[in-house]
Amino acid sequence: MRILVTGGAGFIGSNFVSFLLQHYPTYEVVILDKLTYAGNLLNLTEELERSNCTFQEGDICNPLQVERAIRGCQAVVHFAAETHVDRSIVAPEVFIKTNVEGTYVLLEAARKHHIQRFIHISTDEVYGNALSPEGISRPSLETDPQRPMSPYAASKAAADSLAYSYWTTYGVPVVITRCGNNYGPRQYPEKQLPHFILCAQEKRPLPIYGTGQNVRDWIHVYDHAAAILTLLHEDGKLVHGEVFNVGAGEERTILENACTVLDLLRRPRSLIQFVPDRPGHVRRHAVDTTKIRRVCGWQPRVRFREGIEQTVRWYQEHPEWIAATRARYDDFVRRVFELEAEAA
Ligand SMILES: NC(=O)c1ccc[n+]([C@@H]2O[C@H](COP(=O)([O-])OP(=O)(O)OC[C@H]3O[C@@H](n4cnc5c(N)ncnc54)[C@H](O)[C@@H]3O)[C@@H](O)[C@H]2O)c1
Repeated sequence: MRILVTGGAGFIGSNFVSFLLQHYPTYEVVILDKLTYAGNLLNLTEELERSNCTFQEGDICNPLQVERAIRGCQAVVHFAAETHVDRSIVAPEVFIKTNVEGTYVLLEAARKHHIQRFIHISTDEVYGNALSPEGISRPSLETDPQRPMSPYAASKAAADSLAYSYWTTYGVPVVITRCGNNYGPRQYPEKQLPHFILCAQEKRPLPIYGTGQNVRDWIHVYDHAAAILTLLHEDGKLVHGEVFNVGAGEERTILENACTVLDLLRRPRSLIQFVPDRPGHVRRHAVDTTKIRRVCGWQPRVRFREGIEQTVRWYQEHPEWIAATRARYDDFVRRVFELEAEAA
């Protein structure tokens, strides 16, 4: 099988490519990535040494670049996106452009090239707070309405709708995943856990929004990759046109995560620093994963405790990756670090 992976130089995309090639070493993989601040070829060092894994620098919003990358592929796994909620609050435009228009360009190409499976990687952010229709707090179901609470979440919700419409209108065999918060190796350090790990390593304050009670459902990136691989191979009659939640049921508050990281790195809790909450901050994200377990037999394998220990170790053992990433920090991340240093 020849697979186009968009956003394969990012955190989840690169972990997926390496997982895929470990399990299916003869598959051909074409990676299309714009190498934004979040994309990094260091994430693909081993994979790109193989003759069956190729990289094309390009933009999913550019139909010619997409056309060149998708030719000859049977499947698409679409990760490429702008992904950071905080950035979407400061500068939403690029989120609409990449996440909505880019997805449209890919879907058009998939239609033209008769792609046999199109996995659209979405997020549990599209649900907003995890609530039943009566307003009772419970994990989100695939059938729950979308109530996105940030421009990032709204752009992903729009892309989900577009992807679903290409199944109902044109029969493009779309499968939509909505996963909880991922963690693991190679995550760009603007995201919560790697940010906490680097702050703790360097004895800088760990910033906590509000009172730190907001809850997320944490899944190790290897478990997410395994779920996508399962959906790539499952009988089309069971998965085309369907949405699947993906999560590990490991609900934790921001404050709990900060304490865990500090304890693992033997740093004092006094490094915790509360900062004003962000607008539209979702109180609880959590997903009900009964459907993917029932239909595909998938289940998560990495417990949070084991996964976070392994992740902390990975950041400790890869100073060269951190240095290279730091050299690529843009104004946004630099400003965040400066503000924290000033407040300390
Ligand atoms: N990180 C999470 O916790 C999480 C949870 C659920 C779903 N998701 C979804 O998973 C996907 C991957 O997330 P991630 O955390 O790996 O993101 P990331 O920010 O680490 O990587 C995104 C990648 O997309 C590339 N990219 C951005 N714009 C592009 C464009 N216009 N054309 C081509 N490439 C472009 C970047 O260069 C980067 O390599 C996203 O669609 C995201 O919405 C993420």
